[in-house]
Amino acid sequence: MIFYFSGTGNSQLAARQIAAELDDKLVFINQCLKKGEKGTFHSERALVFVAPIYAWRVPKLVERWIRETKFEGGRDAYFVLTRGGSTQGNAGAYAAKLCEETGLTYRGLVSVQMPENYIALSAAPSERECAAMIARARPIFADLARQIGRGEPFSKAPVSLIGRFLSGPFNPLYYRFYIKDRGFTVSDACVSCGKCVRRCPLNNIELADGKPVWKGSCTHCMACICGCPTEAIEYKSISKGKRRYDILEE
Ligand SMILES: Cc1cc2nc3c(=O)[nH]c(=O)nc-3n(C[C@H](O)[C@H](O)[C@H](O)COP(=O)(O)O)c2cc1C
Ligand code: SF4
Ligand code: SF4
Repeated sequence: MIFYFSGTGNSQLAARQIAAELDDKLVFINQCLKKGEKGTFHSERALVFVAPIYAWRVPKLVERWIRETKFEGGRDAYFVLTRGGSTQGNAGAYAAKLCEETGLTYRGLVSVQMPENYIALSAAPSERECAAMIARARPIFADLARQIGRGEPFSKAPVSLIGRFLSGPFNPLYYRFYIKDRGFTVSDACVSCGKCVRRCPLNNIELADGKPVWKGSCTHCMACICGCPTEAIEYKSISKGKRRYDILEE
């Protein structure tokens, strides 16, 4: 069974491709989070968790969801992360620890480069570069699916000292000091369509007088800012003039 979380669609694309190659079921974690569902899932096949990498690790909200969810049947757990940068740091070690603590059998973590979506921090590549990156990633997802299908563990990526630092002590500091929704603003371009409200996996947005208000519980997934059809949302001045990256299908 393939479980995926996605802010702007990269991980959705990866998850859909892996599910199609394996002819296996898909579960959209965003919807489970939105509905507050802490369900039980039964599958005799491998569990595959697909998500963006956040601060050099599996996103905290995905870790929490895995901890709160019951998995019956197969115990093998694979992690496929999509990343915008060049390193996954020591993400595998933390995923392995999560598996140990939740009774799953860790079978490896691989990250695959896809377009950067974090416009509250940096810039997304051009449309052409994004298309080229996606084209390069597709055969990698296919190969990962084949490895999962054969029951092989993913090979372990080497981890540098800086990688250990980024996934280790820096990760919680990053969440604590940077992941905040106070920087979001909305302009008069807002047409009160409610898409940002519908998309937020944490139900952190509501409309007041037709405009979004952020309620303080945000994970910086970029679904609201990148999905807004009129580009009415900005993050401080950092996102101004930047291309929005969004391929998420609802
Ligand atoms: C909050 C946040 C943190 C991120 N941290 C990293 C990171 O540590 N390393 C990296 O390579 N990319 C990082 N990225 C980029 C995303 O992981 C990447 O663009 C991903 O493919 C987005 O997937 P999605 O479209 O499924 O949301 C980060 C993006 C966000 C929004
Ligand atoms: S998605 Fe954009 S236009 Fe729609 S309500 Fe939100 S801010 Fe307004
Ligand atoms: S407020 Fe926006 S960035 Fe924050 S979790 Fe919701 S959709 Fe994602």
